[in-house]
Amino acid sequence: MALVGPERLLPTPGGYDPRLIQRASEEGRVRGIGLALLQEIDADPLKADPILRRGMREARALHSQERRFVADTLYALLRHRRVLGADPVHAWDAWLAVQRGEPVSATLPENPVEVLQFLGNISRTFATELLASVADPVAFLAASNDRAPLCIRVNRLKTTTERLLSTLGTQGVEIHPSTRCDDALFVGRNFNLVASPEWKSGQFEVQDEGSQLVGREVPLGSTVVDYCAGAGGKTLQLASRMENAGRLFAFDVRQRALEELSERAHRAGVKNLTVHLLGSGAIPLSKSSCDVVFVDAPCSGSGTLRRHPELRLRIDEDHLQEMTGLQLNILKRAQTLVKPGGHLAYATCSVLKRENEHVIASFLEDSPEWSLEGAQRWSPEVDGTDGFFLAKLRKTS
Ligand SMILES: C[S@@+](CC[C@H](N)C(=O)[O-])C[C@H]1O[C@@H](n2cnc3c(N)ncnc32)[C@H](O)[C@@H]1O
Repeated sequence: MALVGPERLLPTPGGYDPRLIQRASEEGRVRGIGLALLQEIDADPLKADPILRRGMREARALHSQERRFVADTLYALLRHRRVLGADPVHAWDAWLAVQRGEPVSATLPENPVEVLQFLGNISRTFATELLASVADPVAFLAASNDRAPLCIRVNRLKTTTERLLSTLGTQGVEIHPSTRCDDALFVGRNFNLVASPEWKSGQFEVQDEGSQLVGREVPLGSTVVDYCAGAGGKTLQLASRMENAGRLFAFDVRQRALEELSERAHRAGVKNLTVHLLGSGAIPLSKSSCDVVFVDAPCSGSGTLRRHPELRLRIDEDHLQEMTGLQLNILKRAQTLVKPGGHLAYATCSVLKRENEHVIASFLEDSPEWSLEGAQRWSPEVDGTDGFFLAKLRKTS
C-alpha cells in the first residue's frame, strides 16, 4: 500500500514566541526543567502523562507561557521522537530547530509499515494494524496529532440545549452547537468549566463529540446495564436519554471510578441508577433479565491519541493480545444478562479492526443465538472526533 503524503507527519513550527524558543535553547530554568522532565519520561514513557502533569504543577519557576511551551515540547517529543532522535538533549534541540523554521532532514524507509513506525513513533504491530484498519493511516496519525476541541454534553434532566447555549453565551463563553449531535456543544478553552454554576448544578458534563455519537446510538429499554461504566461518561448520557424512566445499572471493576460516577450522577439528578462493583458479590440482576447491555470495553485507546499521545507507546503485540482477550471475555460474561430479543452493544475507543470487527466476529462464531444488527466507526481524520467503534447485536433466541 502506498502512503499518501507521509511528510504531513513531520514536526512543524508551532508559531511560538521566539523568546520562548531562545530560553529553551539556553541553560536556564526552562531548558533545565524541560530536560529533567524529558529524562524522567524516557525512564518510564508510559507514565508520561502523570509525570508531565505533576511536573507542570510543581514547575513554579516557570510562568504560564513557559509551562505551556515545555508541555507542548514534551508532548511533541512523544509524537515525533524517532524523527528527532533517541538522545534526549539532541531530540530537544532538534525540536527547537524546527520551531526556529529549520527544515527537518529525515530519510524515510521504503516499506509503509516502517514509514508509519518512524513518523508516528509507533510499534511495528500498531503500524501493521493501522494499515489493515484505516483507509489513510497517515491522515489518521496526522489528525491524531491535532488538539481535540473541548466538547460538553447537555444534561436533559436539568436543562435544554437552547437554554444552556443562551445562559453560557450571555456570560461571554465562546460556544457553538455540534451539527451532528443534538446535546453536544463546543466551548472555547477560556471557559473554566468546573468553576461554573451550570456545571456544579449538573446542567452539563465534559464529553467528546465522538463519545456522544456512540452513546446516543446505544439502544434503550426498561432495564439497561452499562457493564464497563468507568466514571460514567456514557452512563450519564444514557441516564439523560432515559429521563429517569426504567432502571439503569452501572458496573465496573474499579471502585474509585464508580465512586466518581455516583458523585456525578447525584450532581446530574439521576434517580434510576444502581452502581455495582464487579467482583464484590452477586450481580444485582438475574440472567436473561435485561433489555440492553452496553459493553464500552477496555481497549488500546488508539482512537484517543489526540488526548493521550503517550498511548502510542503502549500499543504493541502483547498489549493487543491482552486487550482482545479481555474484550471477548467481558462480552461473553455480559451477554448472559440479556433477555431474548434484547440488545448487546459493544464499543471501543479504538479504530483497530482487531479490537472491533474481529472481536465481534469471534464472539458471533461461538454465539449462534446472537446476530449483528449493524456497526459503525468514527475516526479523527474523517469525523474530527476521537476514534470509536460501536456494534449492535440482537439476541434472537
Ligand atoms: C473505555 S473504559 C469505560 C469508559 C466509560 N464507559 C465512559 O464512557 O466514560 C473501560 C472500562 O472497563 C473497565 N473494565 C476493565 N476490566 C473490566 C472487566 N473485566 N469487567 C468490566 N469492566 C472492566 C475499566 O475499569 C474501564 O473503566
